[in-house]
Amino acid sequence: MTTRPAAWEPTSWRGFPALQQPDWPDEADLDRAIKQIAGYPPLVFAGEARSLQASLAQVSAGNAFLLQAGDCAESFEDFSADSIREKLRVILQMAVVLTYSMGVPVVKVGRMAGQFAKPRSNPTERIGDADIPSFRGHIVNDAAPTAAARVASPDRLVQAYHQSASTLNLLRAFTKGGFAALDRVHAWTQEFVSSSPEGRRYEQLATDIERALAFMRACGMDTESNPNLREVDVFTSHEALLLGYEEALTRRDSLTGAWYDCSAHMLWIGERTRDLEGAHVEFLRGVANPIGCKVGPSTTVDEVLGLCEVLNPARIPGRLTLISRMGVDRVESGLRPLLRAVTDAGHPVVWACDPMHGNTYSAPNGRKTRHFDAIMGEIQGFVLAHRAEGTWPGGIHVELTGENVTECLGGADALSDDDLDHRYETVCDPRLNGRQGLELAFRTAELVETHRMG
Ligand code: PEP
Ligand code: CO
Repeated sequence: MTTRPAAWEPTSWRGFPALQQPDWPDEADLDRAIKQIAGYPPLVFAGEARSLQASLAQVSAGNAFLLQAGDCAESFEDFSADSIREKLRVILQMAVVLTYSMGVPVVKVGRMAGQFAKPRSNPTERIGDADIPSFRGHIVNDAAPTAAARVASPDRLVQAYHQSASTLNLLRAFTKGGFAALDRVHAWTQEFVSSSPEGRRYEQLATDIERALAFMRACGMDTESNPNLREVDVFTSHEALLLGYEEALTRRDSLTGAWYDCSAHMLWIGERTRDLEGAHVEFLRGVANPIGCKVGPSTTVDEVLGLCEVLNPARIPGRLTLISRMGVDRVESGLRPLLRAVTDAGHPVVWACDPMHGNTYSAPNGRKTRHFDAIMGEIQGFVLAHRAEGTWPGGIHVELTGENVTECLGGADALSDDDLDHRYETVCDPRLNGRQGLELAFRTAELVETHRMG
């Protein structure tokens, strides 16, 4: 077990081994960019992070469900009001499906407004007969397969801050300004979705909701100005990978005196950086935001208990979300011992299922992909493991876009290997398209409902 000092500073992580940090060519240039960001305003406020934590506490108690969704990696190039709006639309649609079918509040968290940095399995990539640095997300370098494009540039940290700020600004405008009002539930459907079977199923549900709203109005309730029906909270999150960037946005809350990482409401630790002795665990243990940690198939009971102890020693409900990403074949056997151990130790965590990262493979044409059946299969295994252990399958963590892309196979459209090249636009991992996302929400709601009835 770690012998770490009780004291914590935003810089403490610097005394620990930090994996997955880029090779910055010029330290002075990096310092300049980090100092610039440290002087900028925070992107989120501590009170908002506390409000998310309170909602997640409801998830950990089995009274709410978490939907965490968005890009694998946000792009500097595909950055527009349209792409933000389309992503929000599918998240709102999925949330409505889950809320209506399961009858519990859905906590909505985007992999948005800061999800730029990518951990890599290999630091270099073979292109022709040269090894060049791997692409690490637009916050670090460019994806083009040349050595020059892959040089890490600190100016990109500053650009990522600004893009996060404008994405968050638009998200706030859409979610508080009327776009997300429940009486617009029909308007969230996109054309390419509305003609599909899941689109028609959604239309039926939207009509039911409209009738319910009309009924409430007829009973004298004011549905026009009730903020619960007019506005939604969509929180932001990303993997806290580049610790210099996160440190620069870590500020002391004037109300409570606690440190918050104000780059997003929620931050998570990735599968490759969850070492108990490492810098990422050290950094995140000290910020008061709700945090997540991925747990993959190699996670042992001792490791998961160690993570709970270090990241949430006070056992605050909603503070820690464990995001399992086992792969469809290992989810039940891998997860059950962890569920049992964490429950027996009395740690009030949120359990979420990332059904994407354990099910990635390369198609014959070399494209990275995932099959919808494996994704659904992992969610089913996740729900079954919880049923067997008597715990609450608290949520899902998925990679998606609102666009009609062809990156994941299967789904009602039955996308096949041949379709992959048609619209393969992700800068990193393959994402569900709008229709696949909606179908996943319907099927997840059914699985969880069966769990609750069972
Ligand atoms: C991700 O969420 O994009 C990711 C890299 O996941 P993991 O750390 O689980 O591999
Ligand atoms: Co990913």
